[in-house]
Amino acid sequence: MPTNSQSAHLPFGENKNAEWYGKDIISVKQFSRKDLEYIFGVAHEMRGMVERVGTFDLLKGKILANLFYEPSTRTSSSFTAAMERLGGSVIPINEVKYSSVSKGESLPDTIRTLECYADVIVLRHPETGSAAIAAKAAKKPVINAGDGVGEHPTQALLDIFTIYEELGAGQVDGMTVTMLGDLKYGRTVHSLTRLLSMFTNIKLNYVSPEILKMPKEVMDEIAEKNIPQAEFNTLEKVLPETDVLYVTRVQKERFEDPADYENVKGAYVIDPEIMKSAKKEMIVMHPLPRVGEISTDFDDDPRAAYFRQMEYGLYVRMALLAMVLGKA
Ligand code: ASP
Ligand code: CP
Repeated sequence: MPTNSQSAHLPFGENKNAEWYGKDIISVKQFSRKDLEYIFGVAHEMRGMVERVGTFDLLKGKILANLFYEPSTRTSSSFTAAMERLGGSVIPINEVKYSSVSKGESLPDTIRTLECYADVIVLRHPETGSAAIAAKAAKKPVINAGDGVGEHPTQALLDIFTIYEELGAGQVDGMTVTMLGDLKYGRTVHSLTRLLSMFTNIKLNYVSPEILKMPKEVMDEIAEKNIPQAEFNTLEKVLPETDVLYVTRVQKERFEDPADYENVKGAYVIDPEIMKSAKKEMIVMHPLPRVGEISTDFDDDPRAAYFRQMEYGLYVRMALLAMVLGKA
């Protein structure tokens, strides 16, 4: 959380010397633990400002290009809301088929075009590595809003911020986090696992069908940091020790063989009965959308944090926009 002197920076002019000014946000690997504390401090202040005044003019006159080559509800609309709550405006390209992409324009040329009009570009794209390609082409900051099965760094930041706000700052250290579902294609868990590895005494459990296991590349990175991690194909054994249960959707759109999807799609369903064996003080998260992995019967349980999680995304994205535009 920022000190009073840090918070005093928020309302003042653009600071081109600020650490995050003009930076791209491509992968969680670029963050240190200190960066996380700073981002969450600014996000916490954004939350306070939204609760007190709703909208304020920190980014007045700034323009965001929201470029989405894949469907999105939360990421796209929370970046729009973040920019507008900070007094800026948005060029929305949520349906690339109506843009010149459908005439064959390349990603680098599309990015070069948008940065003529905008100060920052948010990109979601089906190919891993596309955000890095876009950032190379751009002089303005590019924020990765999901690159295929690669990463979804702003989601992982909002996930950790959710844990901070729900279970108390500093509580991430010492936690047991269980990830459930499609750990192979789910980009959110690839980013989240890496971010969690920055905390101490963390224990990671991965529960998935055999064909949807956490990629070896991610597990090797975690092993290098000597963080305990274990794989399971049922939840029962690890649920009682879990502090954060992170549920994911089976990513139908990434399967080459639809029959494989059919075999695993209903593998796990969280419902009030299963949750009887979980701690009272824990949370259930999900990046959403859900398509049956969490029963709606569980929604009223105080441990169901997934709808609150979406709201935390607004504050984190407000913080990131302010930071890369030199206002925090
Ligand atoms: N919305 C998240 C993503 O775009 C998770 C999901 O779609 O299942 O990665
Ligand atoms: N969590 C998430 O990225 O949601 P959308 O796909 O709706 O943006």
